[in-house]
Amino acid sequence: MNTYGGDHTQKRKRVTVRTFSEYKQSKKKFAVLTAYDASFARLIEDAGVDLILVGDSLGMVIQGHETTIPVTLADMVYHTQCVSRACKRAMVMADMPFMSYSNVSMAVDSARQLIQKGGAQIVKLEGGAAQVEIVAAIVDQGIPVCAHLGLRPQSVHKLGGFRVQGREADCAKQMCEDANKLQQAGADLLVLECVPAALASKISEQVGIAVIGIGAGIGTDAQVLVLQDILGITFGKIPKFSKNFMQSGLGIGDAIGAFVNDVRQETFPGPEHTFD
Ligand code: KIV
Repeated sequence: MNTYGGDHTQKRKRVTVRTFSEYKQSKKKFAVLTAYDASFARLIEDAGVDLILVGDSLGMVIQGHETTIPVTLADMVYHTQCVSRACKRAMVMADMPFMSYSNVSMAVDSARQLIQKGGAQIVKLEGGAAQVEIVAAIVDQGIPVCAHLGLRPQSVHKLGGFRVQGREADCAKQMCEDANKLQQAGADLLVLECVPAALASKISEQVGIAVIGIGAGIGTDAQVLVLQDILGITFGKIPKFSKNFMQSGLGIGDAIGAFVNDVRQETFPGPEHTFD
């Protein structure tokens, strides 16, 4: 057993969206990690992670693609099944892949498959005000939704690369407005990816739902990282916003536990992982 997070699967209630509202109200920071298979999902849950993201980042870290764009709904259902079979306590969040939510009926059916076949308890989709109708339609079916603003990797070609978003005043204003609209549409959580820390803090204070940051500074309600990055097994260079927790000579379970601990104690992310 790891020595940081402890074995949280024993005699503990299942995490739900209500858990994250309670954390937000009590200002308790929480850690989120990606997983794509049962073995790692179990280790991550045992380390005390409350929310496991079956991210479409699997296209890059598992399938070896340069972007998340080739990932299909069938890929997402398969990996969500692998993760959800292992999770007894943590909430499982599945990404809706590229072009699986281009219109309302397609979006509702894609969400259905991730929940009904995959075993996820919440779905995540990328986009701003343009996705408000889609978010509302999925929520109307009783499915929780996490919205995703800032760097949206499925739009990498339109954004001109994996770049920080929200540095210009008009873009920052738009992001604040989009966050409000997505919350009003019924989103339960919000991911902010690669956003200047001051803007991410402002959005986190302005909305009532928990905000999960990645490359968004210390001011968000939670932090998410890609598992392979914290284990130091990423292809090529580790992103600036991430940290290799294996460097201090820890085993895998303890490295994951160290990430959980650092998020809870607000010692991660540091200024070196943050964008201005
Ligand atoms: O796909 C993914 O892993 C994600 C995180 C980077 C937030 O969306």
